Amino acid sequence: VTEGLSDLLLSRVRDVPDHPKPGIVFKDITPLLADPEAFGALTEALAATARELGATKVVGLEARGFILGAPVALAAGVGFVPVRKVGKLPGATLSQSYDLEYGSAEIEIHAEDLAADDRVLIVDDVLATGGTAEAAIGLIRRTKATLVGLAVLMELGFLPGGERVRLALGEVPYQALVTV
Ligand code: PRP
Repeated sequence: VTEGLSDLLLSRVRDVPDHPKPGIVFKDITPLLADPEAFGALTEALAATARELGATKVVGLEARGFILGAPVALAAGVGFVPVRKVGKLPGATLSQSYDLEYGSAEIEIHAEDLAADDRVLIVDDVLATGGTAEAAIGLIRRTKATLVGLAVLMELGFLPGGERVRLALGEVPYQALVTV
């Protein structure tokens, strides 16, 4: 990732203090999405990763991972498969629970949308605690397909999410286009 690209992407992410709770600085990507130059550069960078890894499917994590992942899949010429919050997918699903700060969450995938010869790149916008990505890694590993990478727009470097997903991924590559 060139300095120019990370500067462009960072300049289009807005910090919103005290959202959704006091003390949290929310990373709002809507200015980036509204700028076709930045959104296009982001899409192209992630599509290049998908091509380099020989991905045949992009898996996007609800909800912002859909917005980023779908154009990446099309740009790379591969299919898109959503990982959704529990209860949204109509067909037979594989599901994975994970712990939140308070309580737990569950995500699902249509396992039949991934074949044994599929090579999966997981895409999301932000890696914070890494809990969501770690659960998605576990989910993909339970399908017939092969996990070939995890790519995010932004890692929050002051949280241990990067370390957590690297541990879960082992030899499988992890890319954060920018770390803040
Ligand atoms: C956000 C973000 C990631 C996740 C990162 O999604 O888009 O998916 O949290 O946090 P973590 O690393 O601590 O798990 P959120 O659950 O807010 O869903 P949304 O995209 O539907 O708003």
